[in-house]
Amino acid sequence: MSTKITVPDIVAAKRGRTGQDEKEGHRRLAMVTAYDCTFARLVDRAGVDFLLVGDSLGMVVQGESSTLPVTLDEMVYHTRLVAKARPRALVVGDLPFLSYQTSRRDALESAGRLVKAGAEAVKLEGGRTVAATIRALVRAEMPVVGHVGLTPQGVHRMGGHKVQGRDAEGRRRVLDDARAVADAGAFAIVLEGIPLDLAREITETLDIPTIGIGAGPFCDGQVLVMHDLLGLATDERSAPRFVRRYASLGDAVTRAVAGYCEDVRTGAFPSDAESYHAPGVAERAPSRVEEIRTVADMQAWSDRQRAMGLRVSFVPTMGYLHEGHVSLVREARRRGDRVVVSIFVNPIQFDREEDLVSYPRDYERDRRLLVEAGVDAIFVPGPREMYPEEFTTGVAVDRLTSNLCGAHRPGHFGGVTTVVTKLFHAVRPHVAVFGEKDFQQLAVVRRMARDLDFGIEVVGGPTVREADGLAMSSRNARLDAPGREAARCVPEALDAVRAALARGERDVAALQAEFAGRVAEEPLARLEYATVCDPDSLEVIERVESASRIAVAVWVGGVRLIDNVLLDPACAAPEPIARNSRNASTSRTATLPESAEAR
Ligand code: PAJ
Repeated sequence: MSTKITVPDIVAAKRGRTGQDEKEGHRRLAMVTAYDCTFARLVDRAGVDFLLVGDSLGMVVQGESSTLPVTLDEMVYHTRLVAKARPRALVVGDLPFLSYQTSRRDALESAGRLVKAGAEAVKLEGGRTVAATIRALVRAEMPVVGHVGLTPQGVHRMGGHKVQGRDAEGRRRVLDDARAVADAGAFAIVLEGIPLDLAREITETLDIPTIGIGAGPFCDGQVLVMHDLLGLATDERSAPRFVRRYASLGDAVTRAVAGYCEDVRTGAFPSDAESYHAPGVAERAPSRVEEIRTVADMQAWSDRQRAMGLRVSFVPTMGYLHEGHVSLVREARRRGDRVVVSIFVNPIQFDREEDLVSYPRDYERDRRLLVEAGVDAIFVPGPREMYPEEFTTGVAVDRLTSNLCGAHRPGHFGGVTTVVTKLFHAVRPHVAVFGEKDFQQLAVVRRMARDLDFGIEVVGGPTVREADGLAMSSRNARLDAPGREAARCVPEALDAVRAALARGERDVAALQAEFAGRVAEEPLARLEYATVCDPDSLEVIERVESASRIAVAVWVGGVRLIDNVLLDPACAAPEPIARNSRNASTSRTATLPESAEAR
C-alpha cells in the first residue's frame, strides 16, 4: 500500500485487461477529488489511485454555480495544498477555464505552474480541438489526462450539464474526441455524462484507462467529487444520479458543532481535565454530569453521541457504589468516548422482599463519586419508568442460570436479564462492562448479548477486594462488626482451595469439601454453595484438569456474600487473595478513593 503510484502504474492497470475477462494485473482505478492537505491525507489513506485537484473546487469549495470562475492561481494554490500531503496516489491538477484554450504557449505555462505546485499530471477538457495542445504538453514531459463527453467548462455550449452522446451523431462526436485524445498521447481519459454502452465502446477501443463519472460500470475506473461521496455538500440541489453517498459527514459535522455549542452554553465544556492548573492552586473546574431519568431522554442522549461518531460505554449498577464499581467505570472510559452509569435497584431480581427493602441507597454520594470518576451521564430511572403498569415481558437465558446462584435464587437471573435488556435498549451502548465478582451474571449477560444479537461488546472487569481480601459489595455495608470479621472466612477459604489445588488435589468434591470445612470453622457463617464449574458453560465438573472457576455463596449474619476465583491447575503458587492475618486491623476503605471514606 505504501509504494507511490506513478503514471506507468496507471497505464499498466489497463494492460492487464483482456477483451472479456480480467487477467491478473488488471484492476479498476479509483479517483477522488481533493482540495486541501487534510482531506488529501484522509482520502489517500483509504487507498485511492488518483487524487484529482478538480476545478469542481468552484462549486464545492467556493460556492460558485459552475467551474468557470475558477482561476489558474486558485488551482495552483489548491494543488500545492494537496501535494503537501505527499500522497501515495497520483496527484492530477485540473487546468481551469481559459488557462489552456487561448494558445499552446498558455497551455504549457499553465500546466507548468500546476506541475511546479506538485501536480504529477494535468487534466484538460475537450477532444479533437485540444489534441494538438495535449501533444505539446506531452512533448514537454507533462503527463495528460483527457476529459470528453459532458465537459463542464463547455456548460454554455451544451446548454447546461447535459448527458452527451445520446444520438448517433453525438455518439460519433464523443468517440472521435476520445480517439483524438488517446492518439495525442494522453495516458488516461475521463468520460463524463455519457450512456454506459458508449463508455463501454470507448473503453474497449482505447489502450489507455477510461475513468468514468456518470458513464456507467464498464470504464476502467471511476471518479467522484469527494464532497458528494462523503455527503458533505450543503446546497439543496439534488445530487446527479451517478453520485453514490458513502457517508453523511455534513450532518455529522453540524451535529458535532451543535453539541459543542450546547456544552459551551451549559458550561459542560471545558471540564477540569481539559483545563490547566498552576502548581499549588487548588481551584478546579466545576464538574458536570448529565442526569437522565427517562428512557426516551436516555435514548436521545445516546443517539446524539453515536451520531457524532462517539463510542458509548456503559456500566449498569444498583448504586451504593464502591471501588469495584469505579474500577469498571475506569475500564469503560478506556473503551469508549462517553461513559454512562445506570443506578437502578431492580425490584424484579430480588428473590426476598426484605433484601430489596434493606438494599443500601445513597444517591447523592454515588453522584459525587461518579462526577469524580468523570462519567458523562448517570441514568437514574424510577421503578415506574422501567416497569410501567402491566409490564409482562421477560428475557430468560436457559442452562447457564440453572446452577450456582440460579439454583438458590429463583427468578433472580430472569430479573437480571430482563432489566439488562431494558437498560441496553435505553443506553444503546457500544460496550458494557460487568464485574467478574458476579461471575455467573457476566457469563449470562454475555451469552444473552451474543444469542440475541445485541451488537454490544460485553466486557469483564476483575474483582476489587478490601484490604483483607473480602470482595467489595454494596451489601457488605449491612454487616455488623462481628459479621464483617467473620466474612473474612470467604477469601481465606478460597485461598485454602487454591492451595490444595497447587498441592495437586484435582478432585472437585475434595476441593469443595476444603472450602466447606474452612467456612464451618466460622460460627457466624453458613455455606449456601461452593461449586467448581467450567468458566464458559458454567457446567459442574468433577476434576480440575484445565482453568476452571470455583463460585461460592456464604451467609454471614443475614447477609449473602458471593465470590469466585480462578482455579488454574497449571499455577503452582497462586497469589493469595486474603492478605492480612486475622489479627491485623481491617480497613474497608483501604483501596477506596478519599471521597469514598465517608460512607
Ligand atoms: P451491582 O451489584 O451494583 O453491581 C454492578 C456491577 O459492579 C456488576 O457488574 C458487578 O459485577 C460489579 N461489581 C460489584 N462488586 C464488584 C467488585 N468488588 N469488583 C468488581 N466489580 C464489582 O450487578 C448488579 O448491580 C445488577 O445485577 C445489575 C447488573 C445492575 C442489574 O440490575
